[in-house]
Amino acid sequence: MLKVDPRRPELEPILEAAEVIRRGGLVAFPTETVYGLGANGLNPEAVAAIFRAKGRPADNPLILHVADREAVSELAAALPSAARVLMDRFWPGPLTLGLPRRPGVPDVVTAGLPSVGVRMPAHPVALALIRASGVPIAAPSANVSGRPSPTRAGDVLEDLEGRIDLVLDGGETGVGLESTFLDLTTDPPVLCRPGGVTPTDICALIGPIQIDPAIYVNLEEHEHPRSPGQKYTHYAPRADVIVVDGPLEDVQAKINSLAYEYMEEGRRVGVMATAESRGAYQVPVVLEVGSRKNLPMIASALFSTLRAFDRHGVEVILAESLPEEGIGLAVMNRLRKAAGGRIIRVGAESGRERRA
Ligand code: TXA
Ligand code: MG
Repeated sequence: MLKVDPRRPELEPILEAAEVIRRGGLVAFPTETVYGLGANGLNPEAVAAIFRAKGRPADNPLILHVADREAVSELAAALPSAARVLMDRFWPGPLTLGLPRRPGVPDVVTAGLPSVGVRMPAHPVALALIRASGVPIAAPSANVSGRPSPTRAGDVLEDLEGRIDLVLDGGETGVGLESTFLDLTTDPPVLCRPGGVTPTDICALIGPIQIDPAIYVNLEEHEHPRSPGQKYTHYAPRADVIVVDGPLEDVQAKINSLAYEYMEEGRRVGVMATAESRGAYQVPVVLEVGSRKNLPMIASALFSTLRAFDRHGVEVILAESLPEEGIGLAVMNRLRKAAGGRIIRVGAESGRERRA
């Protein structure tokens, strides 16, 4: 693990990390979203090593990270005008674009899809590493497949120590959730994964887009989302996650009654609360993820809070649902996947729960 200044990365650790990338090794590095696990994106063996280290299914493609727009033309066969507009506005930043791939992009990167995901990250360490390596860097989030994405170097080690060559420790990431993924190879474009750049931001520039329904639900094994990553139970701590959705007072009451039932069974229960409700729970472990008035803060704390429950030895996490405005759409997408579809609705809209 090498420490690096997140604002003005020192040359030495960057050159050492770039050397590992060029040799075909694996380097975890900070981006403004989450830590990535990087390898030379043009070297199929190096990319295959990413899949092994994470235990990632081979049908789940990787994003290629570039340090400038010129590099995109070597990876994408065409650049739709919407891509140019979005790049002007949101790059560098948390927006990945699905573009028609060039034949030179290895199959292992795209999992055989005709499109390739490309993103220019905004983090100085990520940009310096890509530049020094001189190649596009393939990088999924630097967690074991299925676990919450890492937002600090310690999270990376918790999952991948001994399986990768180097971690660049640039402190905590900013956004805290992975980039927005927009597939531009179809008309209208499809939002495959929500993130820091919201549908409203995108539509304001390029007009209507479609939202992949997989964002809202957990699909069955045989169903095919546009983005293979949306298929799996994902972002999940070791504990079972149950999300309770509805008016806040009903949610609090339901969480307390569920907590009581689980504790009766002898299970260790934790509640993921918000600043507005933390006092409402009679449960041993209550962790606050942030204020409902500040959804970006909740986004940045979500994954580290889920990991913290594991460190408390919690077996069942009961989580309040959150408003889906702005980045809240991305927060709830991750929470639903972490819960593997275990969502309980309470309050006026839920007749069954009301009778119960
Ligand atoms: O913020 C991020 O995007 C982070 C940092 C490291 O850049 N990376 C990241 O990568 O989250 P990963 O591999 O954990 O998630 C990539 C997602 C997966 O859900 C994958 O299925 C989808 O993007 N994806 C990649 N290429 C795709 C493609 N050509 N078409 C559709 N979905 C794609
Ligand atoms: Mg991931």
